[in-house]
This record gives sequence, structure tokens and C-alpha cells, in this order.
Amino acid sequence: MRKIIFATGNKNKAKEIHEILKDLDFEIQTMKEAGIDIDIVEDGKTFSENSMIKAKSVYDALPENLKGRVYVMADDSGLSIDYLNGEPGIYSARYMGEDTSYDVKNKNLIERLEGVEKADRSARFVCAISCIFPDGTKKSVEGTIEGYIGWEMAGENGFGYDPIFYVDEYGCSTAQMTPEQKNAISHRGKALRAMREELKKNENISS
Ligand code: IMP
Repeated sequence: MRKIIFATGNKNKAKEIHEILKDLDFEIQTMKEAGIDIDIVEDGKTFSENSMIKAKSVYDALPENLKGRVYVMADDSGLSIDYLNGEPGIYSARYMGEDTSYDVKNKNLIERLEGVEKADRSARFVCAISCIFPDGTKKSVEGTIEGYIGWEMAGENGFGYDPIFYVDEYGCSTAQMTPEQKNAISHRGKALRAMREELKKNENISS
């Protein structure tokens, strides 16, 4: 069975990838599970660059017995608000400090948009996924979900900026959606499904 090593320590991300790729017969391991423990400096300028930096760092750190035999995958994601020139963008996790609560971060972003009309509150979640194939081929894909920043926080589901990110078609925030609803339309779901097609092409899987 082909193996994918995902450059994350986050079990939830690994679970989500597993869910979307489950019928393809890939074993999915986090880098920790594969015994890779490295610090990665994310110094790219875009989500795609950062996801490839992470994938490359793990690829370079593969133990000898895995080199040339596994796929290495990584993602990078964040929230981009048009009125704030794309902020917090690639700094989404680090915005106002990594240890600051999302309650504080979300309130701060709502404050920064005080008095701004709905038409100018547009925003999107972006997710880039990069993969290095066993033969060294590199692929990056991106998924986005369009929405706007609301006037108040709403919802208990999800994480991060979900309580302030509203989607017009649903008339609610992504924190008010079930995980299934969100996965079906989310930036990460879209990027994962695009990467799924790349894996199928590479493995000559037609279903
Ligand atoms: P990453 O784990 O380095 O990709 O950081 C992504 C950061 O972007 C998270 O810590 C969140 O702040 C934000 N983010 C990305 N995707 C989502 C989402 O689906 N909902 C809420 N916040 C998100």
C-alpha cells in the first residue's frame, strides 16, 4: 500500500485527509508517527510557497528506508480579508501572537472593520496543499471559500476564525455549520479533492 506522510502534528488534519482519500487505499501517517521530528521555518511569501517549504523539509528528513517510496504532503492555510489588504493571510496562526486566543483575535478583526459596509467586508479562507511524489515530482494545488466578515461572532463548531467568517449561501458563519457541511464547501476540502485527483493520475487510478 502506498503511504502518505503528512507534515503536520495536527491529528484533526490527518483525520480530514483520511476521510477524503479513504477509498484510494493510501496509508496516511503524520510526520510524528513516521518518526520525523524537525522544526520547519515557514518563510515563504504565499500559502503555496509555505506548504511546499513544509513538504520539502519533511522530504529531506525522510529516513533512508522511506526515501523514494512515500508521498510527502503538507498544507498551509489562512484567512485573507480584502479590506485589510489580505491580512492576516499567511500570518493567520501568528496574528496578534500564536498564544493569543481566537476570541481576542476575532474581536480585534471585527473592530478593525468597524463602519465598513457589507460590500467591502469580503474575505476568503485559502488552503494550499503541496505534495512531493515518491519520484521527487512536486505538485501544489489551492482551494478557496468566499465569504465576508460578520459584525459579531457566531457558532461553536470549527476553530480559529470560523465564528466571524460568514457564507452568503448558507446565511451563517462556518462555525455554525456541521463538520460535514463545512468540509463539502471549505478551502481545505476543495484543495484535498484537487490533490486527490493528482494522486489518482500519478497512480493510474481511474475510478
Ligand atoms: P496552518 O495550520 O499553519 O495552516 O494555519 C492556519 C491558520 O489559519 C489557523 O491557525 C487559523 O487561524 C486559520 N484557518 C485556516 N483554516 C481555517 C478554517 O477552516 N477555519 C478557521 N480558521 C482557519
